[in-house]
Amino acid sequence: MYNEMDFDKSALNSAPPIEEPARQYYYMERCRAWVRNFQKEKGRAPKACVINMGCQMNARDSEKLAGILKQAGYEEEEREAQADFVIYNTCTVRENANMRVYGHLGQLSPAKKKRPYMKIALCGCMMQEPEVVEKLKKSYRFVDLIFGTHNIYKFAELLYTCLESKRMVIDIWKDTDKIVEDLPSERKYSFKSGVNVMFGCNNFCSYCIVPYVRGRERSRKPEAILKEIRRLAADGVAEVMLLGQNVNSYGKTLEPPCSFAKLLQKIEEIDGIKRIRFMTSHPKDLSDELIDVMKHSRKICRHLHLPVQSGSTEILKRMNRRYTKEQYLELVRKLREAIPDISLTTDIIVGFPGETEEDFEETLDVVRKVRYDSAFTFIYSKRTGTPAAAMEEQVPQEVVKKRFDRLLCEIQSISAQVCAVHTGKVMPVLVESVNDHDSSLVTGRLDNNLLVHFPGDEELIGTIVNVKLEECKGFYYLGTRKF
Ligand code: SAH
Ligand code: SF4
Ligand code: F3S
Repeated sequence: MYNEMDFDKSALNSAPPIEEPARQYYYMERCRAWVRNFQKEKGRAPKACVINMGCQMNARDSEKLAGILKQAGYEEEEREAQADFVIYNTCTVRENANMRVYGHLGQLSPAKKKRPYMKIALCGCMMQEPEVVEKLKKSYRFVDLIFGTHNIYKFAELLYTCLESKRMVIDIWKDTDKIVEDLPSERKYSFKSGVNVMFGCNNFCSYCIVPYVRGRERSRKPEAILKEIRRLAADGVAEVMLLGQNVNSYGKTLEPPCSFAKLLQKIEEIDGIKRIRFMTSHPKDLSDELIDVMKHSRKICRHLHLPVQSGSTEILKRMNRRYTKEQYLELVRKLREAIPDISLTTDIIVGFPGETEEDFEETLDVVRKVRYDSAFTFIYSKRTGTPAAAMEEQVPQEVVKKRFDRLLCEIQSISAQVCAVHTGKVMPVLVESVNDHDSSLVTGRLDNNLLVHFPGDEELIGTIVNVKLEECKGFYYLGTRKF
């Protein structure tokens, strides 16, 4: 039922190409013709608003959606209610991510009543859940287009179908092994860009919905990745963030195989690229080869996001993380031995089913031992269909809340101390923007991901300059430029 294609095929009067991406470019042309008509009728170009609600991988997908909308002739609009086409790229990793989507839809419904020609689309991870699509079909009839994660490359085709149709268009695939290259994208930043290296996840951590909504692991070919990064460099991009749910298992299924460490070495050779970041690394797959490549690299940032999730070996086992507390700590020791100034960040889940006070103390112990630069902390959220959702002994909310607050307190006090260690040093900063609150300042990022504000102007955006870190304000620095 979830492969239904609700297309009005008669709307297409000349045969579109079969192969990709040619087919999508054909549909972008068809959309352009539609846009020209809109313009004639309304005396203005239609406006589109892309709302990203998920992780960095979703953010990158949203840039691809925006690229296709631009190619089709749409102008960008930031306010949902003012747009002629609104698309929500959804996340479903935790319950509150879903609630936000329904909230947005509720708020948009009056705008659609006023302007019935407005089109509302939903895509992304949440759409891969059959009960979500059922609910939308039943209670949100004003939604015009629904598609999932596996066929996002078909957006131009789906957009055209939606523009020509008066019915709700639904196209959800269960899985795919296809990767379509060379589609347009509209980057949010001129000087940095995310680059997908792989899609999907095979790890099935017992709490996590991602493998169900993103499908099996698929790596892009190294040549395709390098070609994209060379193009980005030629376009002025200085920093790339390589994206995958588990970048450490990159390339294992490729023919011939190519390790993530080898890929990094090839990217390092690209002129113009000055910084390389990546996420996320699964501790179980982080190789000695990768540590060695990081150690000798001039471009890979001295920062690693290494989600621990829990400090208790028992909980880790039930999370299906496939490492113990001791193995994690040993990995951290090895990393620090090879790269003493490496900054470490993490993700932690509090209140996994069956988590006892002792288990939680183990998590606090890891936090104290590793001394993270920062950590994202999450209250466990039950995701229907995952093994953890069926586990007994769900921890009472008030207990979880107390643990969560204790953990946050510990992390904040440690990270304030860890972040302050650079005070007085002169370090390279990649300038990202003019400061939001004070236009005499610019804001940039250290190699270790910390933010720095210092006097400067717009001209500096996208360049790397040396800055003296004068004062640490907890999670950011105030500094002055050094010539
Ligand atoms: N692939 C990445 C994580 C992607 S999801 C990794 O393995 O590290 C980002 C984070 O969301 C996870 O690291 C985890 O901490 C959190 N998360 C995932 N599922 C969750 C759930 N059901 N409840 C609470 N937090 C969750
Ligand atoms: Fe989820 Fe685990 Fe895959 Fe990360 S590695 S996306 S937490 S299943
Ligand atoms: Fe969310 Fe999908 Fe990313 S569920 S965290 S947007 S992969």
